[in-house]
Amino acid sequence: MSAVEDLVITGGAPIRGRLRLPGCKGISHRALLFGAIADGDSHVRGLAPGHDVRSTARALMALGVRVDDVDGTTTISGRGFDGLVEPNAVLDCGNSATTMRMLAGLLAGRPFLSVLTGDTSLVERPMGRVATPLRAMGAQIDGRHGGERAPLVVRGGALTGANFRLPVASGQVKTSLILAALQATGQTEIVEPAPSRDHTERMLVASGAPIDRIDDRRVRVTAGAPGPFDLDVPGDPSSAAFFVVAAVITPGSELLLEDVLLNPGRIAFVDVLQRMGAHIELHQHDTRLGEPVGDITVTSGPLGGTVVDCHEAIIDEVPALAVAAAFADGVTEFRGAGEMRVKETDRIATLEQELSKLGVGVETRPDGMTVRGGAPRPATFDSHGDHRIALAAAIAASAIDGDSRIVGWDATAVSYPAFADDLARLTGSAP
Ligand code: S3P
Repeated sequence: MSAVEDLVITGGAPIRGRLRLPGCKGISHRALLFGAIADGDSHVRGLAPGHDVRSTARALMALGVRVDDVDGTTTISGRGFDGLVEPNAVLDCGNSATTMRMLAGLLAGRPFLSVLTGDTSLVERPMGRVATPLRAMGAQIDGRHGGERAPLVVRGGALTGANFRLPVASGQVKTSLILAALQATGQTEIVEPAPSRDHTERMLVASGAPIDRIDDRRVRVTAGAPGPFDLDVPGDPSSAAFFVVAAVITPGSELLLEDVLLNPGRIAFVDVLQRMGAHIELHQHDTRLGEPVGDITVTSGPLGGTVVDCHEAIIDEVPALAVAAAFADGVTEFRGAGEMRVKETDRIATLEQELSKLGVGVETRPDGMTVRGGAPRPATFDSHGDHRIALAAAIAASAIDGDSRIVGWDATAVSYPAFADDLARLTGSAP
């Protein structure tokens, strides 16, 4: 199905069968970036299909990297950092903060000028968290509000390694600094307040870059680059979260998700759901570029409320978990989720609006919310232009008898364009 603006879902049918999810977005961005700085050709199958990863691919092509066939077996013809050339146009990162923040680190070490911009959501998201440390390494970065907001103008050049104690745990910021540190003289040490997702460390270590993981919050980097690699991108655990919750809350469901990334920093949502009473099993069968990969099986069943202490490993999955909370018996409290306020939308505010339409109680705080589970009813939801809000609405709608509408369904094109087709197939409503 092409990206329709509104989607109508007739809910109540169980989710049954097996599904291969789209490739992991976080791994896909990194595979493109690391392939671009490797000296030689990398081959990657199953890149994430949405617009976000295409934004990274397009930007790299504008920097002179050959990226063939993003929809099939992708060849990335890396020629090292020195093979990158000054782009002759503004680099449009679309809706993707991952693209913008990581590119800023890559470009900080290149001796040329680049300009990074994005859509109306992205230009309002915080960029000082990369601009400030990259300036401390020697890059010149300007932007709106003193470099806090895009468009960003990056004048890269000679970088010097530095020691950072980051104020927020962020896989994007850490990756940005690692990409700069690989081009810097001397050593860089990055210390985070809490662990953030570690794909960059795993993938770069597995492909031979000079990265030293001291512990789960500290990494040391010296100058160097990864070697080329081959990779079958595993399924995206953040997309899995929506189908896992859908299967748990829709009676009669039985689902097998095949070949999913099982990085412990990405599947913390499974622990939360198990604590709420869900029947979910993980079976690892592979390791790829340092990442565990396997299958997830889920059957439906009743849920109870819980307390969720949010951190980077769980922040993208809160929209799916909030839907689980809406169908649970009891109260679920989400704490420490302040980063939700600076995602594609203020997700605490947008979830409050959309979950309230289900007829369940929602109270919000600056860094969290409380959901009182109930008997959700069909509704007309609004994506607010945010893919994860649209997907959360879709799984709620699918679990409720009757017709619901999701306005702004086209927002899902950034991460999971075929979600409606996959849901229709698993619920037996595909034409
Ligand atoms: C990502 C890190 C997280 C996550 C985002 C992808 C990554 O963002 O929410 O969807 O690939 O490193 P932050 O780095 O802002 O926490």
